[in-house]
Amino acid sequence: MLSAEKNQLLTQVGPGTPMGDYLRRYWHPVAGASEFDDKAVRPIRLFGEDLVLFKSLSGQYGLIQRRCPHRNADLAFGFVEQDGLRCAYHGWEFGASGQCLHQPFEEIVDVDARLRKKTAVKAYEVREKAGMLWAYMGPAPAPELPDWELFNFQNGFAQAVFAELPCNWFQCQENSIDPIHFEWTHNNWTARLHDNQAGYVPTHLKTQYEEFDYGFVYKRLRAAETEQNPMWTVGRVTLWPNAFYLGHHFEWRVPIDDENTLSVLWVFSRVPQEQEPYVQSRIPSWYGPLHDENGEWITSHVANQDFAAWVGQGRITDRTKETLGASDRGIVMMRKRFFDELDAVAAGAEPKGLIRDPEANRNVPLPSACRAEMIDGLPRAELDRHPLLGPYLRDFIGQAGQPEHVRAEYEHAIGQKTQRAKFFIVHGAAAEHGAAADDAANAATAATAATAANNEPASPAPVPHPASR
Ligand code: FES
Ligand SMILES: [Fe+2]
Repeated sequence: MLSAEKNQLLTQVGPGTPMGDYLRRYWHPVAGASEFDDKAVRPIRLFGEDLVLFKSLSGQYGLIQRRCPHRNADLAFGFVEQDGLRCAYHGWEFGASGQCLHQPFEEIVDVDARLRKKTAVKAYEVREKAGMLWAYMGPAPAPELPDWELFNFQNGFAQAVFAELPCNWFQCQENSIDPIHFEWTHNNWTARLHDNQAGYVPTHLKTQYEEFDYGFVYKRLRAAETEQNPMWTVGRVTLWPNAFYLGHHFEWRVPIDDENTLSVLWVFSRVPQEQEPYVQSRIPSWYGPLHDENGEWITSHVANQDFAAWVGQGRITDRTKETLGASDRGIVMMRKRFFDELDAVAAGAEPKGLIRDPEANRNVPLPSACRAEMIDGLPRAELDRHPLLGPYLRDFIGQAGQPEHVRAEYEHAIGQKTQRAKFFIVHGAAAEHGAAADDAANAATAATAATAANNEPASPAPVPHPASR
């Protein structure tokens, strides 16, 4: 339980708020690069600020304020030039630095362009990496954009998957240090959604949380597993400050504003060794829906189950009304670390986990329960049996709404058809394979239900990229 004041400290992200200013000191993934294959300008709201993201004709990305400083027209209606974005109202043009590059009529009246030279808009740095566009909205100089090792693995199919969630970012991030929810949200709830007599998977026996340079590691041990299980020896990473790393994918929770969050999944699916060498030409990106065609929450896929849980906590969850227990030890540790960080940074300290040295930012490894398999690969039959990676060979269990063209590219990459499952019963390994089985699979031994025999798409239609906000 927290005081209302402390809850505000964690959840308010607008300009000038302690947490908003703190998070702005990190790079955040904000869009898919492939969105700009067929458009050049889109509005975007980040940290409570209305902005436009554009790609100039020369290929440079820019992120600038949405309102034109002339007479407040919406620059989302603007059009791109060689080096910038031009307002559709009277033609003022702005570069990625925010500097005004052209004021057509003013420069006829005043050839010295005095007004233009002193006109600039708010602008933030944008970079492309791993098929995503990343924004840095903090004070200069920007830190390194982390070169996580997973971005550089070979022989895999990556995809960037987005969703806009109507809830505050922090309740999403608390999920990154909440191992117990896996047993209930992704195992038992799923099973009961489809069979109200279904048995429960093995329960958690103990958890452990350790801090390291780039966040926390959580470890867990479930009944019928031994202490050699990689979820106990290695665990998973609560990646500072707003992400989760699971060895084969990342999840970021990027604040749109206090009441909305951009969920970003970046999933790398290793192809079977029989498909090597596989080189992906372009990382696709797509936005998934939250609701099905009947307006019901989608609960079939792993991320969608999380979304329902987080949004269900309330728009900005009221932490004055919690009843915390032993399962929340990691959450308490993470909150305390944030409070300490806010104090330290206010006193002039460097925020946790920033990388400043380019040499230190080469292929940065993170703890992973499946690192060797991700690097070396596995034959198709072994990959299929792998508790963490096998489910992705059978279907994209991550999030509902995968577009058909992405599915087709993915099937080509892995060299087999997917099952087009309608839901995924995600069991703990022990439940699947008997008590002797001991693997990391409490995450994802997915028994896909409804298979290729039912040849309908698994998911509701994908939603278009956000047109406006
Ligand atoms: S409002 Fe943008 S140029 Fe006039
Ligand atoms: Fe989850």
